[in-house]
Amino acid sequence: MRGKTVVQGTENLRFAENGLPEGELLKDLEEQRKDDFVWNDPHNMKAAYWAGDDVFRIGRETYAAYHGDNLLYGKLLYPSLLEMSADVVAMALEILGAPDGAGGTITTGGTESIILAVKTAREWAGNERPTKSVPEIVVGYTCHPAFNKAADLMGLKVVRLPPTSSYRVDVGIMREHITENTIMIVGSAPAYPVGCIDPISELAELARAHNLWLHVDACVGGFFLPFAKEVEEIPPFDLSVKGVRSMSADLHKYGYTSRGASLVLLSDKQHEEHQRFVLEDWPTGQFTTPTIAGSRPGGAVASAWAVMKYLGRSGYRERTRKIIEARRAIISAVRQLDEVCVLGEPLAGIVGIGGTAGTDMKVVRQGLIDRNWRFAPLENPIGINILLNYKHGDAVDTFIGDLKSAIHDSKAGKGPTKFTEDGYGG
Ligand SMILES: Cc1ncc(COP(=O)(O)O)c(C=O)c1O
Repeated sequence: MRGKTVVQGTENLRFAENGLPEGELLKDLEEQRKDDFVWNDPHNMKAAYWAGDDVFRIGRETYAAYHGDNLLYGKLLYPSLLEMSADVVAMALEILGAPDGAGGTITTGGTESIILAVKTAREWAGNERPTKSVPEIVVGYTCHPAFNKAADLMGLKVVRLPPTSSYRVDVGIMREHITENTIMIVGSAPAYPVGCIDPISELAELARAHNLWLHVDACVGGFFLPFAKEVEEIPPFDLSVKGVRSMSADLHKYGYTSRGASLVLLSDKQHEEHQRFVLEDWPTGQFTTPTIAGSRPGGAVASAWAVMKYLGRSGYRERTRKIIEARRAIISAVRQLDEVCVLGEPLAGIVGIGGTAGTDMKVVRQGLIDRNWRFAPLENPIGINILLNYKHGDAVDTFIGDLKSAIHDSKAGKGPTKFTEDGYGG
C-alpha cells in the first residue's frame, strides 16, 4: 500500500527477495488504486476517450494478445503486426484525404509524432531552404507545447505568436513573423486549449508562397473531424489541402484505441527518409528506425487495428455525433448564463469556458472541482477546458446544474477558499 509504505520509511521500499503471490498482488493493486479517479467516470472531462464497453474490451484484449510482440522486429518475427501497422496507416490516410504517394508511421503518442514531423521538416529544409541562423518554427499561441519540446531537443527556435481573440492563428500576423530562418509553420485542428481549428487552407497558401513546411496538428481532431464533417460544416483541415506536408493524428485519443498510439502522416512518403534514423556501421549491421522509440509496443498497434476495424466509419460517426450533441448542449446552456462564456468557436469535442467581467472564475472553477468534476484548467484566460466523450451526453444537465450552483456560491461569497493546484503534465 503506497500510503503506508511512504510513512514507514525507505526500508519497505527495498526490492523484496520473494515476489508476492498473484492474489495478494492484485488485492494490493486494487487497494492502491482506490483513491484514483475512475478514468471513464462521466465526471472526468479531462481527456478520457471512452467509446463504450465493447470498444474498451476489444482494445484491451488485442493489446493483451500482443503484449510481448514488438513492431521493431515486425519484418523478421511478427509479419502480422507489420501488416496491421500498414493497414492502420492506410485507413488513416484514406480518412484524412491523403493524396496518392502519401505515407505514415505509427508512433507511441502525439508528442512523438510531432517530434518526428519537426525532424522531417528540419532535414527537408536543410536541402530545400537552408537558413543562415537557427531554424525557426512559427506557431500560434494555442499550439501544443510538444513543438517547443521538439525544438528544444533539436536546437531549433519556436516563435510563438501572441494570443488572438478568436483563439485561432491570425494568418496576417503569422506572415509578419516569417523570416529567412523560418522553416516550418503549424496549424492545429483543433488546438487543445479551447478546441478551435486554425485556418488551415490559408496557412497552406502561406506555406506554398514561402516554400515552408506546414504541419497540421490533428492529434485531437484526426479521428474526430473526418466524421464530424459528415454531421456539420468543418473547414478544410486535412491532407487534401495542398501545402499540408505532414500531420499528427492520435489513435489513442478519438481513435479510441489503447494508450501509446498515434500517427505521423506525410503527404509525400519520399520525405520519410528525413524522418528515419540510420546508423550504418554497428555490430549487428545497419540500424534503422522510422521513430524515436526503438522497441514499439505490439499491443498498441494490434489494438489500433482491431478498434478501427471494429468501429468502421459508422461506429466513429455515431460516437462523433453524440459528442457533437453534448458539445452543442453545453455551449447553448453556457451561452444562457451571464457570468460565463464560451471561448472562441469550438468545433471538435473540446469546449473552453471562461468568465465574463465580474466573475471570479477561479472560485467557480474550484466550485466545480469540489463538486467532483475534473477538467483541465485554463490560465490565460482563467477558465476550464472540458474534453467530451461518448458518455458525456448524459452528464450535461448535472454539469450545468453544478456550474450554476458554483456560480451562485461564488456570487454569494460562499465559494471555496482553498484551491487545487493543477496544470497540464506533471
Ligand atoms: C493538439 C495536441 N497536440 C499534441 C498533443 C500531445 O499528445 P500526447 O499527449 O499523446 O503526446 C495533444 C495532447 O493532448 C494535443 O491536444
